[in-house]
Amino acid sequence: MVSVEQVSRRFGQLLALDKVSLQVRPGEVFGLLGPNGSGKTTLIRILTGVLLPSAGEAQVAGLDVRRHPEQVKAAIGYATQEASVYRDLTVRENLEFRARLYLETCNVPQAVEETIQRFGLQDFAHQLAGALSGGWRQRLAIAQAVVHRPQVVFLDEPTTGLDPVSRRTIWDLIHQEAARGAVVLVTTHYMDEAERCHRLALLFGGQVIAQGTPHELEQLALQQARVAYSETHLPLEQIRALPGVLDGWPSGNGVRLILEQKAHPNLPLQTVHPNLEDVFIILTRSKGGTA
Ligand SMILES: Nc1ncnc2c1ncn2[C@@H]1O[C@H](COP(=O)(O)OP(=O)(O)OP(=O)(O)O)[C@@H](O)[C@H]1O
Ligand SMILES: [Mg+2]
Repeated sequence: MVSVEQVSRRFGQLLALDKVSLQVRPGEVFGLLGPNGSGKTTLIRILTGVLLPSAGEAQVAGLDVRRHPEQVKAAIGYATQEASVYRDLTVRENLEFRARLYLETCNVPQAVEETIQRFGLQDFAHQLAGALSGGWRQRLAIAQAVVHRPQVVFLDEPTTGLDPVSRRTIWDLIHQEAARGAVVLVTTHYMDEAERCHRLALLFGGQVIAQGTPHELEQLALQQARVAYSETHLPLEQIRALPGVLDGWPSGNGVRLILEQKAHPNLPLQTVHPNLEDVFIILTRSKGGTA
């Protein structure tokens, strides 16, 4: 349903995307995970028909993004990074506006009503979008991206700036979209959230440095390094300078460490399960980066 083959994109001298390839199936929540400037939005803009690739092929809902960008735009739902809602329209008016772009007039009221119910927006339907809190505005942004039930949904950082409870709610809504059979592509730089995706691509400097399920990525990272906790009071600079210590940072009463496989840095060590932040640090190390 979304197929990307060796897609690159240049902005002058800058290679913002470098031979990116990935496939996303219906019913799947696919995450693009990467730091600021790694190319997430650029890829989404190419897949939504907003921007042309400099090289490579991409298909969305069976349509070539180079040849049919306008049809691509009509086949998808897209919530941009800037929470694309009209602040001076009410919640209901925002949904009606979007629905009218895509649906026959006679189908608009029902689609809007269903979406208001599905997203729990009943109590806010008559409020101006600009008066909503960040979390509710974000919820509206996703609602208006899917009001016409598109088969492919793009959500660019749908949870940035939200508290953990609102983020959890948004993730439930994202999974609802996949459960009705949509392809969902979502970007984030929250490592903990990435664990909620079925599959992920780690973007770094415009390249996909790894992709797979969260579990597969953990296994890949564990082939290169191990993660440990040490209850030590040594200064951080000294710990980082120990042989075999790749990285370390404060954690509770001690430090969390990334170690070379066979390192014994002479510290009390407890091996711990890597989280996706550890995975990201481990996998980007070989590319010369820090997360
Ligand atoms: N229209 C443009 N003209 C020139 N450079 C651009 C343009 N759009 C993006 N870039 C550059 O391409 C790179 C990738 O940007 P992009 O917005 O895709 O990153 P991102 O992963 O979405 O970052 P963020 O997490 O901050 O949203 C950046 O270096 C950015 O400055
Ligand atoms: Mg972005």
